[in-house]
Amino acid sequence: MSWVRVATADEVPSGGLLSVQTDQGSVVLAGVDDGIYALEDRCSHQDYPLSDGLIEHDEVECPYHGARFDVRTGRAVQLPAITPVRSFQVEVRDGDVYIRVG
Ligand code: FES
Repeated sequence: MSWVRVATADEVPSGGLLSVQTDQGSVVLAGVDDGIYALEDRCSHQDYPLSDGLIEHDEVECPYHGARFDVRTGRAVQLPAITPVRSFQVEVRDGDVYIRVG
């Protein structure tokens, strides 16, 4: 496991999403009230990018068929998705966002 820098904290919109590229594929960063969270940027329903969606009530809503995922855990909380998406640990250090991958 290693930490990789993926963005600056300023680049992650408050209440919004930012897609970043990593060795592990695309990751979506979600800016919510208590910090920044990171999920695999691929809906577990039909693999569309979650970064095309929006955040509501600390959940990422996929715009394609309305599935929702908990930003903190990746748990699927709304059909049609039933399986979670991968979540990554996040740390903000000196204004930079790092996620733990591997
Ligand atoms: S691809 Fe996300 S809900 Fe269908």
